[in-house]
Amino acid sequence: MLQDVMELQTPRGNVVIEGPAPGDYLETLSMNGNLNNFRPARKQKQALSSIARMPKGLIYIARHQKEIVGYVTFHPPDEYTRWSKHPRILEMGGIETSTDWRNCKIGINLLKVGFAARFLEDFIAITMEYAWHWDLRNSGLDVWQYQKMLTGMFTEAGLKTISTDDPDILEHPANVLMAKIGPGVSKQDIQLFDSMRFTHEFGKAVQF
Ligand SMILES: CC(C)(COP(=O)(O)OP(=O)(O)OC[C@H]1O[C@@H](n2cnc3c(N)ncnc32)[C@H](O)[C@@H]1OP(=O)(O)O)[C@@H](O)C(=O)NCCC(=O)NCCS
Repeated sequence: MLQDVMELQTPRGNVVIEGPAPGDYLETLSMNGNLNNFRPARKQKQALSSIARMPKGLIYIARHQKEIVGYVTFHPPDEYTRWSKHPRILEMGGIETSTDWRNCKIGINLLKVGFAARFLEDFIAITMEYAWHWDLRNSGLDVWQYQKMLTGMFTEAGLKTISTDDPDILEHPANVLMAKIGPGVSKQDIQLFDSMRFTHEFGKAVQF
């Protein structure tokens, strides 16, 4: 039995939202073949298992019987980003619902359950939303409608939009940084996060 478990009835069948899912447990499950937004489903399954085995990696899944039909991942930020210099930041790496199961409230519940994880209480959980990751083709939405849908979902899961001059965010006008600050994060760590949002203050670059 995993720490967090939520049962969800959908028009397509019952789904369990659960996590954090250990790597060994993920190995016992199959992966829905249409979980291929970021990479082919088989490779994505391997990525989930390796994140689950990282010391600060967390995987929450949506499971129908023995099949993974959706997931959300959390891990330390990539080393090349400024956020990796902060000791208390974890990044939501990706959320996906199989195209077979979209619009059944799986995505929003993965976010609600995942971002409420006990482990994240002592962290600032961020998401770097890049427009080039979004599934515009299958959604029928344009980039701004998609951004509105996602920011609405993240807001419902307790995140707030954060302004920044991170070049990855500035690269596309629809990109957005959002964050949820856990109740156990110290004032100093919140101040450090604030001080990292902009590296160019009053015309001079701040080095990290
Ligand atoms: C984003 C994604 C995870 C949403 O998953 P989902 O399980 O279909 O989402 P839900 O059913 O929980 O819907 C959440 C909200 O979005 C809305 N929504 C979902 N798909 C929509 C669509 N195609 N058009 C309009 N609204 C949509 C729902 O109506 C719901 O809003 P509501 O609560 O106001 O009704 C899914 O589209 C996906 O996997 N996309 C590809 C990967 C991606 O873009 N990830 C985000 C970047 S990491």
